[in-house]
Amino acid sequence: MASETRAETVEDPIQMALFDARIDRGESIEPKDWMPAKYRKQLTRMMSQHAHSEVVGMLPEGNWISRAPSLRRKMSLIAKVQDEGGHGLYIYCGTETLGVDRAELMDQYLYGTAKYSSIFNYPTLSWADMGVIGWLVDGAAIVNQTMLAHASYGPYARAMVRICKEENFHKRQGYELCATLAKGTPAQKAMVQESLNRWWWPSLMMFGPPDKASPNSGDLLRWKVKQKGNDELRQRFVNLTVPQAEAIGLTLPDPDLKKNSETGDWEIGKIDWDEFNAVLAGNGPCNRERIEARRKAHEEGAWVRDAAAAFAAKRAPAAGHAA
Ligand SMILES: [Fe+2]
Ligand SMILES: [Fe+2]
Repeated sequence: MASETRAETVEDPIQMALFDARIDRGESIEPKDWMPAKYRKQLTRMMSQHAHSEVVGMLPEGNWISRAPSLRRKMSLIAKVQDEGGHGLYIYCGTETLGVDRAELMDQYLYGTAKYSSIFNYPTLSWADMGVIGWLVDGAAIVNQTMLAHASYGPYARAMVRICKEENFHKRQGYELCATLAKGTPAQKAMVQESLNRWWWPSLMMFGPPDKASPNSGDLLRWKVKQKGNDELRQRFVNLTVPQAEAIGLTLPDPDLKKNSETGDWEIGKIDWDEFNAVLAGNGPCNRERIEARRKAHEEGAWVRDAAAAFAAKRAPAAGHAA
């Protein structure tokens, strides 16, 4: 670890040139291939943040499972929350192909400084939030992850293909829930509008800071881990979402929102990056609660990990013998 904090590794220029050429040809980089230390490090950071986000993302919605208003809604919500746990597992496995130990990643996340998506530090205050999260948060995740399905690192790209299929379900059930509330009683419509007002801006922040203020984007774009910048993806999401809100009679809480007739883009007002930075720094409404919940689950689950390890150790000689 100490060496990582010192000056950056100097790469062999021939290996580096061959690697860059592979990236330029659009080839997929696989776990056993040579890759620059910085590529490995950036991917580890990005993939582990993604995995942590999937797992912490189970908390805001898990909070409403026991209060779902019908069996149908409860089943969808349980399935969705379970899917998110599965997404976390795929991506942790993908991260391990880069040679990092999962226990180390968990340690950085639960007791260190590893980040996860800032959106999950907001509270779920009403039932309508279950719809709006599916529609906006999973909707934003799809825009990001569809692009990542073409990422240059093979295991990450392949994980995204399956994950995107499931995210599409999440988005549809969320939008359907919002549409149902929007055409319900005046109280139901007011509830979903209020929820949309709270989640709109944080969901736009999910794409990260503007490209000119995004320190890691340059390398990730150059190595085709990311194919598009934060601003372009955010714009794509806005263009998709504005007509969806209109279709169900809801309004977006942005008085400056207007369509640019030349580009066809829906232009948004100013995003409050101070709020984003505060949440990222650990001062969002639920940061402490979320990390506490995850630590508690991790510590209370220690016996399961111990039992699984003991079971694997017991079976290992038998398996070796059989082979
Ligand atoms: Fe997910
Ligand atoms: Fe999802």
